[in-house]
This record gives sequence, structure tokens and C-alpha cells, in this order.
Amino acid sequence: MSLHQHLRAATAAAHQDLERSLDWEARVATLAGYRDLLARFRGFHGVYEPAIGAALADEAFFAPRRRLARLDADLSDLGLDARLDLPGPPAPRLDGPDAAIGALYVLEGSTLGGQMIGRRIAALHGFDAATGCRYYLAHGNRTGAMWSAFRTHLDSLAAGPDAEAAAVAAANATFEALRLWLCRDLPAPA
Ligand code: HEM
Repeated sequence: MSLHQHLRAATAAAHQDLERSLDWEARVATLAGYRDLLARFRGFHGVYEPAIGAALADEAFFAPRRRLARLDADLSDLGLDARLDLPGPPAPRLDGPDAAIGALYVLEGSTLGGQMIGRRIAALHGFDAATGCRYYLAHGNRTGAMWSAFRTHLDSLAAGPDAEAAAVAAANATFEALRLWLCRDLPAPA
């Protein structure tokens, strides 16, 4: 199995859990709900992006995948100043590039389902990739190419069993942290 196949198989249950708990359709149905969800993503990326950047130590690869500035701009379109120190989850412990790539796998993979979610939000609230929906519509029509490049990069890493285990553990921990953070203090879905 390639590292990508391994990550995909090992995190499939966590993806399902997150998708089920997120209840995104109900949450983005109102502007207030959408703003709350984005503010939570902002808090999450505000903690995870610096941690991934430091542990990955490959800014050329990571830079086009950073999405904090998009979140800030969307929140500003929605009337919220993200510099107001929005809360975030505890910082993850990422011991080196293998753990970092596992965490990034989760954030980068979210751009896939994010396309569909973004299109719904844009249609509901009159936003687009330049206003209010920069985060979700992130890579736009380059989403497929960006994902393909991510997978190629993953599979080019010299991954022995220890490296794979570190990447998989970090990916699962990131999925779980994201689920807890995005769903904190929400009623459990029916
Ligand atoms: C923040 C929440 C989410 C995260 C972090 C996330 C993460 C991921 C990841 C890592 C993948 C890549 C799987 C692979 O290796 O092939 C993926 C794929 C996918 N996700 Fe999500 N996901 C999220 C929410 C959702 C939601 C709510 C939906 C449903 C609307 C969704 C639909 C999909 C789909 C359809 C794919 C596969 C796309 C493809 O293979 O072309 N995701 N997601």
C-alpha cells in the first residue's frame, strides 16, 4: 500500500465520524451559523497551521495550502474581525515531518468535500470565491490538480513503518481534534 492508500484506509472511520457529527447543511443554512462554523475553523487553522509549518519545514510545499488568510478575509466579509483572538483548540504535538504530513493530509483533504459545501454556501448566501467563500472554494478549479500533487508528494516520501505510523497517528488525532473542536457545545446530531 502507498502512504496515501494507507492514510485513506486508516482514517476512513474518522472521516465518517466527522462528516456525521458536523451537520454542516443545518449549520450553514443561516449566516450566523455559517459565521460560527468559519470562526471555529479559523481557531483551528490558527493553531494547526503554525504547528504544521514548523514541523514540516517545507514552506514551498505548504505555502499554497495555507488557508488562514482566506478564513480571515471571509470572516471580515461576514462582519467579524478575526484578529479578535478567536479561541482555538490545544496545540498539537507534531514530532517532525511525518506527523506534520499526516495532519496536513486532513486539512488538505477537506478541500475535496469543501468544494461541494462551498458551492452550497455560495448559492445560499450570494458569496463566491472572491467574497465570503474563499476558504471553502480554496483551490477552485485547481482542486483536483492540487490533490493529485499532494498525493504524489505523499507517495514520494521515503516512508518506512515508523514514518507511516507517525503520519497515520497524526492524521487520526487531527480528525478527532477537528471533530471535537467543530462540534464543541453543540447538541448531538439526531
Ligand atoms: C472538516 C471536515 C472534513 C475533513 C477534514 C475532510 C477530510 C477529507 C480527506 C482527508 C479526504 C481525502 C480522502 C482520500 O485520501 O481520498 C476527503 C475526501 C472527501 N470528502 Fe471529506 N472531509 C471533511 C468533510 C467532508 C464533508 C462534510 C463531506 C460531505 C459533504 C466530505 C466529502 C468528501 C468527499 C466526497 C471526498 C472524496 C473526494 C474524492 O475522492 O474525489 N468531506 N475528506
